[in-house]
Formats: sequence, structure tokens, C-alpha cells
Amino acid sequence: MRYIRSITGNFVSISEIEFMAKLTSSKVNTQIDGIDRRLSVAPMMDWTDRHCRYFHRLLAPQALLFTEMVTAEAILHAGADRFCAHDVAEAPLALQLGGSDPKRLAAAVAAVRSYEFAEINLNVGCPSDRVQSGKFGACLMAEPELVAECLAAMADVSIAPVTVKCRIGIDDMDPILGLDRFVDKVADSGIKHIYLHARKAWLKGLSPKENRDIPPLDYDRAAALAQRRPDLHIYLNGGLVSCEQIYAELPRFDGVMIGRAAYKTPYLLAELSAELFDTPLADRYEVAGKMVAYAHAQIHAGARLHNITRHMLGLYAGQKGARVFRRHLGEQARQPDADPIIIEQAARFCAEANDRKVA
Ligand SMILES: Cc1cc2nc3c(=O)[nH]c(=O)nc-3n(C[C@H](O)[C@H](O)[C@H](O)COP(=O)(O)O)c2cc1C
Repeated sequence: MRYIRSITGNFVSISEIEFMAKLTSSKVNTQIDGIDRRLSVAPMMDWTDRHCRYFHRLLAPQALLFTEMVTAEAILHAGADRFCAHDVAEAPLALQLGGSDPKRLAAAVAAVRSYEFAEINLNVGCPSDRVQSGKFGACLMAEPELVAECLAAMADVSIAPVTVKCRIGIDDMDPILGLDRFVDKVADSGIKHIYLHARKAWLKGLSPKENRDIPPLDYDRAAALAQRRPDLHIYLNGGLVSCEQIYAELPRFDGVMIGRAAYKTPYLLAELSAELFDTPLADRYEVAGKMVAYAHAQIHAGARLHNITRHMLGLYAGQKGARVFRRHLGEQARQPDADPIIIEQAARFCAEANDRKVA
């Protein structure tokens, strides 16, 4: 027996067959522009860089991956390649932009056309002071007209769908009317996809980290929005950490976006991916082997091993040997002449500790 959350927020039990039908039904909605958004990995500054995304792709072949947020100004001043270069294997990949000037955002979107991003996403959820002083991120939730203008300007020049990521509100914004008004206005720009971090951002007095934990999560508010606007596609984000919890929420949404749990316990992506897309479950040891080959190529191109392995420390989280794996990679990858083979050595230790036969 499985449990899902009904539209009223209560848990109800359903049979395995009904459960699979519910999971599969979200597929129909999410593929309208050729992109399956049932599972995505959230944009995370300093975390979801290209090495991290390559690793996540090995675990979840169909998930939609996101870049870290890049400001439109950074692209226009420093050139797109510094922020947008990536491996073709990372596709489908969404670029997340930050900004609030429609013309500058449109210019940035035009500048990244050749990188073939699956979608371009506007950040209206980040609460940091640096972001607020540039007048973008979560503070834009108070300016839905401007957000709609930005999205329309981006869509005008974009070959990829334009989407938005936001919170359910900021500060003392009315939890019902405020979000409805924001979404209705923003949807006037023609966008169809909203990634919703289901907690408010409190713009005064909390650090960005606290703003990811302290304002309470409200999945029912997010679900009510999805029910009120069935013409839009709403993806739930915030506090999703386990398969069971995600399967319970999925029927109320078009998909889920996973942030910290994907980074700290990356094998969750493999498990979700196998169930949602009906594909073979990735094998940790094989993933480690592929990362050895990737690391060799990247080091040849000038990367440092530690900058690749730092994203992999959680690969064996919850398994025997997890601490050894973390320590071995953490210490050895920093050595001046560190060889990528240390990844295989650490994975071999864990594989054997978990009775996985290794040739
Ligand atoms: C280290 C870190 C960096 C983040 N950077 C971004 C960012 O660049 N853009 C963004 O929209 N959200 C950013 N976030 C927020 C996440 O995308 C996500 O909305 C948030 O962590 C809630 O999801 P979770 O509970 O699954 O982690 C960041 C989160 C973390 C932990």
C-alpha cells in the first residue's frame, strides 16, 4: 500500500497500481514543450557547477538540471562562455538568470542562444542582501508587473521556453491573495512553468541559509495554486528529502525540484529517476568509474580534481564505508598530484563493504 496526499492535504492510501497510474499521469502535463520536468535538480550557487551536473546526470539520466544563478550583467560584461560552457551530456539543462531590467535580461538571453539550454529560468526566489541590492531575486515578488515584463522580454528573444522560480510569498504578503496576484500577473507574460519554493522569504533579519529553513513550508498552499491554475505547470520545491515523501506529494503537482537532498544524498536522484522514468537504477560503483574518466579529461583541460570530487562526497551516504569514502576523497583529492584513480579506490572499498562484487 502507498500513501499520497490528496488535494485537500490529507494522506490517503492507494494500491500500487493506482499509485503508478498517478505518477505516470504527471508525465502527460510536463512534456508539452518536449521537456520532462517531473524531476529537476534545483539551481544552487557554488554547488551545481558543471562538474556537479555531470555527476548528477550519471545518476539521473532524464532529470532536468539547472545551472547556478548567473546575473544578466555578468553575462553581458564577462561574456557568456565563462558561465555557460558545459558538457553536452548535461542536457537537458536549464540556465537560471538573475536580473530585473527587461532589456538587459533579453540581451543576456540572446547572448546564450548557442549554448542550447533546454529552458531559461528567472530567479525570483533568492533572498540574499547582495541580490536585493541589485533588485532581483525574491524581492521581485512585490513587483509582479516588472517580473511579467522581464519574462515577456526574455521570451521574445529566446528559442527555449522561459520559466520562473519563486517563493510562495515574502514578508507579510497575504499568503492567499499575494501569491495568486503574483502568479496571475506573471502568467500574463505567457509563461507556463513555475518552480515554487513552498515557503516565504523573510527579507529582513534572516541569512539566505536561514531563509531556506526557518519560514515554514506550506505544500498545501502550493497545491492550492496548482489546483486554481490548472493551465499552469507547478513544480514543488523545498524540504523534499525522501522518495516516499516525494511520491506522496507528486500527484498534486506536475513535478518536484530537489535541492540540498540531491547534493548531500545524490543517490536519491538515482532512485527517483529509476521509478519515475522507468529506467535502470544507476550503480554507484559504475558512476564512480565514469567520474574517473571525466576527471581525467577535465584535469587535462585545466580543472582541479578537488573541484570535481567535492560534489561526490555523498555518493555512499547511508551505505557502509560512507565516512571512509568522504575522507579519502576529501583528503586525497587536494594533494598536488592527485590522480582521479582515488575515486575508483574509494568506491571499490565501499562497494566491497556493501557486498557488491567488483572485478
Ligand atoms: C548552496 C545553495 C545555493 C543556492 N543557490 C540558488 C540559486 O542560485 N538560485 C535559486 O533560485 N535558488 C538557490 N538556492 C535555493 C534552492 O534552489 C532551493 O530552492 C532551496 O534549497 C530549497 O530546496 P531544498 O529544500 O530541496 O534544498 C540555493 C540553495 C543552496 C543550498
